[in-house]
Amino acid sequence: MVLQLVFIGTIIQCLMYSSAVLQVFEHAPKSDGSLSFLVLGDWGRRGAYNQSQVAFQMGVIGEQLDIDFVISTGDNFYDNGLTGIDDTSFDYSFTKIYTAPSLQKQWYNVLGNHDYRGDVEAQLSPVLTNLDNRWFCMRSYVVNAEFVEFFFVDTNPFVDSYFTEPGEHVYDWRGIGPRKQYISNLLKDVDLALKESNAKWKIVVGHHPIRSAAHHGDTKELVNQLLPILEANNIDLFINGHDHCLQHISSLKSGIEFMTSGGGSKAWKGDVKWWNPEEMKLYYDGQGFMSLHVIQTQINVAFYDVFGNVLHNWNTSKQLQSTF
Ligand SMILES: *[C@@H]1O[C@H](CO)[C@@H](O)[C@H](O)[C@H]1NC(C)=O
Ligand SMILES: *[C@@H]1O[C@H](CO)[C@@H](O)[C@H](O)[C@H]1NC(C)=O
Repeated sequence: MVLQLVFIGTIIQCLMYSSAVLQVFEHAPKSDGSLSFLVLGDWGRRGAYNQSQVAFQMGVIGEQLDIDFVISTGDNFYDNGLTGIDDTSFDYSFTKIYTAPSLQKQWYNVLGNHDYRGDVEAQLSPVLTNLDNRWFCMRSYVVNAEFVEFFFVDTNPFVDSYFTEPGEHVYDWRGIGPRKQYISNLLKDVDLALKESNAKWKIVVGHHPIRSAAHHGDTKELVNQLLPILEANNIDLFINGHDHCLQHISSLKSGIEFMTSGGGSKAWKGDVKWWNPEEMKLYYDGQGFMSLHVIQTQINVAFYDVFGNVLHNWNTSKQLQSTF
């Protein structure tokens, strides 16, 4: 409860600064020096398209791994975000879906493009956190868990087509303009936060993929503008949603692992382009989610389908002394 009050206090404080350095939140790892969490993306459909089945399996795996929190890669509410803080989708797509005891933890959310098609500020409002104290959503922020640090980046403002050819969609860009300045500040802030981090593991989370063989493919604006900063700062993992699949691309060039967890509800069957098989470790176009278990010296990643079967797992390790 005290933690929640601190969160709400910090959110309010943060709303007062428009382009300051990224806000940092602390999340202590377990006393045994480990941290476990699930990653889900592209989900809120009032239970439809297997959202409820995925939620059920998250509950089972969450219990097995004794997770510390859940990360959402965005597109939290379909089709058009929330209409306001009183939109019942919050209850029917979130609170009443992820009901398992193991999922009653902090949820660290980012926004997806569909979230920007509603009242985007509703999802950022502390009112939602009062309705369900798991909810935590900001545009861009940092979560520091000692040996692992998470950099949540709002990737929506980068995508040109949302501004130049929005079609029938109306995006809520309040708080984003002027766009060029906003993006340039954000890139500086992310670079600075990464440079200042002395965490052993650096994980960056955003909605849009940098690398993807699925429907949307690479996001060229992120490849051009964000990726060079991530490479220069030697991040370990970039995790996204947006493409409705599970995917793991291990970059031969940069050494960054690109992981897509966008299988929270509606999946896209068969919508995939060729990708170098040496880099493509998993492509699965059904529903599911990911888990990560992190300790000082190792990260274990697993991808699960809607039945809770492990589709793919991958581990990496670093020596203890390589921090300095
Ligand atoms: C739900 O998942 C099952 C198993 O993957 C799949 O066969 C079915 O088509 C899915 N249903 C929907 C509506 O996506
Ligand atoms: C990764 O580590 C886990 C847990 O130690 C193990 O069960 C799994 O087989 C490992 N996977 C690979 C691909 O080495």
